Amino acid sequence: MAEPSRSTTRSELLDLVLGLRLRAERSREEDWARPLADVAAALAALATAVSSCQGCGLGRTRIKPVPGVGSPKARVMFVGEGPGYEEDRKGEPFVGAAGGLLDRILKAMGLSRSSVFIANVVKCHPLDDPSRPDARGNDRPPSPEELAACRRYLDEQIRLVAPEVIVCLGRVSTQALLSTTAPLGRLRGRWASYAPPGGAPIRVMPTYHPAAVLRDETLKPAVWSDMKAVLAALGMERPS
Ligand code: SF4
Ligand code: URA
Repeated sequence: MAEPSRSTTRSELLDLVLGLRLRAERSREEDWARPLADVAAALAALATAVSSCQGCGLGRTRIKPVPGVGSPKARVMFVGEGPGYEEDRKGEPFVGAAGGLLDRILKAMGLSRSSVFIANVVKCHPLDDPSRPDARGNDRPPSPEELAACRRYLDEQIRLVAPEVIVCLGRVSTQALLSTTAPLGRLRGRWASYAPPGGAPIRVMPTYHPAAVLRDETLKPAVWSDMKAVLAALGMERPS
């Protein structure tokens, strides 16, 4: 008696697993069927809205807005803190020293700037001393008010791109996205989840900011371990 009931259970389980897999494949197909041109156009419209945005004080001092760049069908979205000196001048995220390290991390993961989406929790450069816009190192983290004012743009980008994984780079973006004050040391390397208003929940992997890794090389193995977890979640494990 035990044997048939066990095999029934097993076949039921198999059905369940196959059913889930089929459903996952179907939803992936729907993803592919999503009119990509529409997503790209909506992302471009968002960038245009950002370029004239005065939703917070950063709109008055920015040189160029930095809405974000990447593929409208990216499976991974990287979210940083905000534009710095170089980004403010180029209008692109992560083009300074930290960006160089992010590029190397992407390469090691078998990814590239054009296959992922890169954004920030605020789209304009927060200046520590706004009377010295040309000074280097004149950066500060965005304030809670600036984060709140800018949030709708990031949420919209997340809804449009609908990535499978979001990587939060550093404390500021992690705490902002996940609405927590827990220290990054406790959050990094552990899966979290975020659902933008009106969107489905997405897995979130917090890790250290590349700028922090440049200051302290001992953080590197943790970042790489976090990125390997991301690749595993995407079924994209790289030979080590
Ligand atoms: Fe608008 Fe965001 Fe720039 Fe503030 S930081 S002006 S909310 S785009
Ligand atoms: N640091 C960030 O957090 N974002 C950028 O775009 C550049 C540096």
